[in-house]
Amino acid sequence: MKFKLPLYLFCCFATFAFAQPRQEFVLKTGWKFSRGTHAQAYEKGFNDAKWEKINIPHDWAINNPFDKEVDKQVVAIEQNGEKTASEKTGRTGALPHVGEAWYRNNFNLPTLTKNQKVIILFEGAMSEPKVYLNGQKVGEWNYGYNYFYFDISQQVQQGANLLAVHLTNREKSSRWYPGAGLYRNVKIIIKEETSIEQWGTFITTPMITDNEAKVNIKTKVNGENLILKTIILNAKGDTIATKVTDEAFSKEFDQNLLLKQPQLWSPEQPYLYTAISKLYAKGVLKDELRTKFGVRSIAFDPNKGFSLNGQVRKFKGVCLHHDLGPLGAAVNIAAMRRQLRILKDMGCDAIRSSHNMPSREQLELCDEMGFMFLAESFDEWAKAKVANGYHRFFKTDAEKDIVNLVRATRNHSSIVMWSSGNEVPDQFGSDGAKLAKWLQDIFHKEDPTRPVTVGMDQVKATMASGFGAVMDIPGLNYRTHLYEDAYKAFPQRLILGSETGSTVSSRGVYKFPVVKASDKQHDDYQCSSYDLEYCRWSNLPEDDFVLEDTKPWVIGQFVWTGFDYLGEPTPYDDKWPSRSSYFGICDLAGLPKDRYYLYRSKWNTRDTTLHILPHWNWEGREGQTTPIFVYTNFKSAELFINGKSMGVQRKNKSSLQHQYRLMWMDVKYEPGTVKVVAFDDDGKVAAEKTMVTAGKPHRLVLEPDRKTIHADGDDIAFVTVSVVDKDGNPCPTANNQLNFKVKGEGVFKAVCNGDATSLEQFNLPTMKLFSGKLVLLVQSLKKAGKIELLVSGGGLKDGVLALSSE
Ligand code: GAL
Repeated sequence: MKFKLPLYLFCCFATFAFAQPRQEFVLKTGWKFSRGTHAQAYEKGFNDAKWEKINIPHDWAINNPFDKEVDKQVVAIEQNGEKTASEKTGRTGALPHVGEAWYRNNFNLPTLTKNQKVIILFEGAMSEPKVYLNGQKVGEWNYGYNYFYFDISQQVQQGANLLAVHLTNREKSSRWYPGAGLYRNVKIIIKEETSIEQWGTFITTPMITDNEAKVNIKTKVNGENLILKTIILNAKGDTIATKVTDEAFSKEFDQNLLLKQPQLWSPEQPYLYTAISKLYAKGVLKDELRTKFGVRSIAFDPNKGFSLNGQVRKFKGVCLHHDLGPLGAAVNIAAMRRQLRILKDMGCDAIRSSHNMPSREQLELCDEMGFMFLAESFDEWAKAKVANGYHRFFKTDAEKDIVNLVRATRNHSSIVMWSSGNEVPDQFGSDGAKLAKWLQDIFHKEDPTRPVTVGMDQVKATMASGFGAVMDIPGLNYRTHLYEDAYKAFPQRLILGSETGSTVSSRGVYKFPVVKASDKQHDDYQCSSYDLEYCRWSNLPEDDFVLEDTKPWVIGQFVWTGFDYLGEPTPYDDKWPSRSSYFGICDLAGLPKDRYYLYRSKWNTRDTTLHILPHWNWEGREGQTTPIFVYTNFKSAELFINGKSMGVQRKNKSSLQHQYRLMWMDVKYEPGTVKVVAFDDDGKVAAEKTMVTAGKPHRLVLEPDRKTIHADGDDIAFVTVSVVDKDGNPCPTANNQLNFKVKGEGVFKAVCNGDATSLEQFNLPTMKLFSGKLVLLVQSLKKAGKIELLVSGGGLKDGVLALSSE
């Protein structure tokens, strides 16, 4: 949200001159990194000559071999209903995130005047960061996911400065892959003593009519006798409102600005304004900040449900963990933008940052691309889920963690709700209800405009303890059979599906016979993409769809999860080499699984969906029952195998699955052509789709998400690599080993095939196709130019792709 100056990035031995009253820099380059205890690493004289040179954001574990021994745990996952302990191998991703490490950065500062102060801001550091400047400790922060800052005015020196950050990741501190290191940005802010406080602006839009909107801006400042001038720009950059105020109360300005004919923010039209706050003392500009914001209203009404800008709607949301598959936890805008683009096409309009603070970049993208956001804080309160989890810090840190979350992110229009916790074991007993109230009150004090929820899985306990009654919005995780009871028991008269689904599948893998099953395991440690497998606590998409469709008091859902993530390989928690999740609607490489089209058929009301599964390459299954499912927004369709009709199927209420899918259960496999013809409500042919049995893998196909990327050293083109036969038909079972080379102004960054059991390293330029596909990440350099990607191997004709950066 903050004003970014032209990119004078700090780096070793560079000095900069500052003209503006406020300077903000990302401390991106010039870092040295080493794992280990290194007792004296915060001292200037410490020799780091042999340390690795890196840029941040950085995840120290991701570019390593998977190792079964990393964070191996002999535990019973009580939350999953396990009673006896067993060995869990890939629970936190099996990448070496556990341990201590140091980051050091030498940077130069200009001479500061006596009226200037310097702040160092971390947008997250995994974890337990201890920060030192010039040999002195300036502070520490326990929670790895949160935003925090320190005033380092006393420790900074003119000229050379040494910043050192020590991090510790304990074993058994997470239920998923947490990442490791300085995985989000670190910023230095230089400003006047007389200035706007860090996170001191709070913009809300308390009144909106068809013709006007009231924009309220509260601005906390340091200093006396000040004048605040606020200018609002529309998206084109024209000034549309201005206010000058010379009265602050308790160092806070409170301004109302009138916007005529406001453009409202919504997922469909994410219109953003910019507020420029200029602070003057005796006519001199002391500080200037830019904050983007949207004009939008939210309401949660027991009679109507949730509405945005006066329109009732239901959340079509997904939960996301913070890792970006093969990039690990290191924040990357291109990767997050791609995720959101994929979700947008599915019809998704909301994200839940499970189970922790979202990154600034993700929130900025949601503001800009149009996603509502449920910003979560904790997975644990006072009671433990994992031996070294957040419960160790809860009593001392919970309040300051919430305060920082809210202050750092509250101007993002995308955020419509906060969550103070996920399935916390404190749901049992009245102490938990008190904690829920305490945390909710902190949120309310910091932000009176948004409600607070908790993802509750112990629904009966929360009815008994009063916990559920406390929450602004009761959120249920799964337990669809208890929605009705909870609705009756809780006074709010609204239920949010804070976590839903948890159906498991592996992209392109299908198991026979096709049956609905919970906790099903297969010999290859994959899950069937017929989308009928789930966990003992969870359910299939239709269980949530029907609630969404029939209960006005269900305000929507957040599916577990939009994308697969590292760690939590349920139902194979104790089976090596499973090391990443199966829950995703898309796989770890970001490729849609079949389930994507089931959600799309319901949620994307703009475009046609007509998707056939399984693939039609079943050598050896000739004559055997091989059901065909079609996910479509049309109500009926006819299926043909090699020209022969298999009959018309119509969505119907004979079962929940029949209500949302078209299913031909008795089809016998014969190679050839599968064709589906869909009909509109008048019975007219509306769409057709054909799939054929592919021949032998012949040639590689390279499809980038973007052909031209930014020459900024961060941007990434995601290239989907697949194989076709000599006639161009996709080969859905190909598993050829491929090799990659990138030439010109780009580098090979990573590769991922979405196979949750693969032990191939993400950062090595070779990988097997999984179900005929993989995704290759090509990163730009700082120099613009041509980039050439060469993919070879597997006895196939090479694939060549020309990309460029500018
Ligand atoms: C929920 C939990 C999530 C994840 C999910 C898997 O109970 O909140 O973090 O574990 O189950 O189904």
